Amino acid sequence: MGLFGSKSKKLSAAKKLEGSVQFPGDKSISHRYAMLGAIAEGDSEIHFFSTSADCQSTLDCLKSLGVRIERKDNVVKIAGAGMNGLRAPSRPLDAGNSGSTIRMLSGILAGQPFRSVLMGDASLSRRPMKRVADPLMLMGARIKTADKGCPPIEIDGGKLSPIRYEMPVASAQVKSAILLAGLFAEGETEVVEKLPTRDHTEIALEQMGADIGRHQRTIAVRGGARLEGKKLYVPGDLSSAAFFIVAGLIVPNSNLLLHNVGLNPTRTALLDLLVPMGGRVKVVNLEILNGELLGDLHVDSSQVVGGEIPEELVPGLIDELPVLSVLGTQTEKGLAFRGAGELRVKESDRLAAVAENLRRMGAEVEEFPDGLRVAGRQRLRGAEIDPHADHRIAMAFAVAGLVAEGTTVIKDSACVDISFPDFFDTLARVTA
Ligand code: S3P
Repeated sequence: MGLFGSKSKKLSAAKKLEGSVQFPGDKSISHRYAMLGAIAEGDSEIHFFSTSADCQSTLDCLKSLGVRIERKDNVVKIAGAGMNGLRAPSRPLDAGNSGSTIRMLSGILAGQPFRSVLMGDASLSRRPMKRVADPLMLMGARIKTADKGCPPIEIDGGKLSPIRYEMPVASAQVKSAILLAGLFAEGETEVVEKLPTRDHTEIALEQMGADIGRHQRTIAVRGGARLEGKKLYVPGDLSSAAFFIVAGLIVPNSNLLLHNVGLNPTRTALLDLLVPMGGRVKVVNLEILNGELLGDLHVDSSQVVGGEIPEELVPGLIDELPVLSVLGTQTEKGLAFRGAGELRVKESDRLAAVAENLRRMGAEVEEFPDGLRVAGRQRLRGAEIDPHADHRIAMAFAVAGLVAEGTTVIKDSACVDISFPDFFDTLARVTA
């Protein structure tokens, strides 16, 4: 039995996808608004907060640090504790399955005058944390990790010094951890990115009153800022919408309207890639809320050409690569990507999990250390899918099931709760 129990879901070929969908609030942005609200002065009210189990893990950790939080449906009210108001936790903080929680919170905890321990579930306990521990130790925090740099992480925080840090991996979580620690350092902390990654932390910090500088690939934050609590609105999650964008494109006769989707340019590489390849996705009703761009998307079934995904696009669509691989099987030329070694250290080894499950469906796929090549124009066969307790693998292969012959069974389907608890209900509604 998997981590989430044995509940499996069955899917069969869909005739079309039709209707409109409103997605839960963006997971990345919800984590950040909650963490910044916790160390701000005054109250924050976050609307359309993500329904994901991951973001609930962040709220639970913040509560264990003494922050007063009320949640009613998807409105979260946070009484800001201020920069010096967090309390030493009485037991280890449980980040569950959430890499964003453990890594970004480490940045805040590095600046606290107490010891904290962060841990997580079996999957998170296998993921690399040295990438955050190293820069935070350079700033002066004392940090211990378990074997091979994995959780639990023990942090003895305190007075921090600013650093200029060139990131060895393209990771928004690492960048964010350093910027958050930089709030507690005396002077200016600088992070230099290899390739641009999602900039929700920079935007949220600016919105809440921090002093942020940006020049090309360098982001600077001045320590000692006073953040102000705010009323904030979270756009719909584009990484959740991605499953419906791909499904709408590959299932014939489909026509979907996806409302209020976050379209921050550091997240939209999926659209930048698919539209020139013939994917009919139209963006309308653009607006900016709290510095974040959002809009509605019209998706129509399309014949996507396929091709090579340029390496510089990879950080901007890192979470979308599993479902893009499924789309690859339905393109004219197939899809190939390299430079995505990070997928090996996500919630599962996503390159292996995608290759294994595509093969179970009878597809031809080549696996590289840092990428995949999926052949085009393939007929998929219904199969039993093992998501390896990984939400994005489960959802990507549910989409594959919509274009496969016969029945596809997603084992341990409840793992979708990590990012999108209503995924299967929403899919059932638009395929009915
Ligand atoms: C995230 C950044 C990405 C992404 C993850 C969420 C974030 O991870 O895969 O799902 O919210 O900053 P990395 O920054 O480690 O690449």
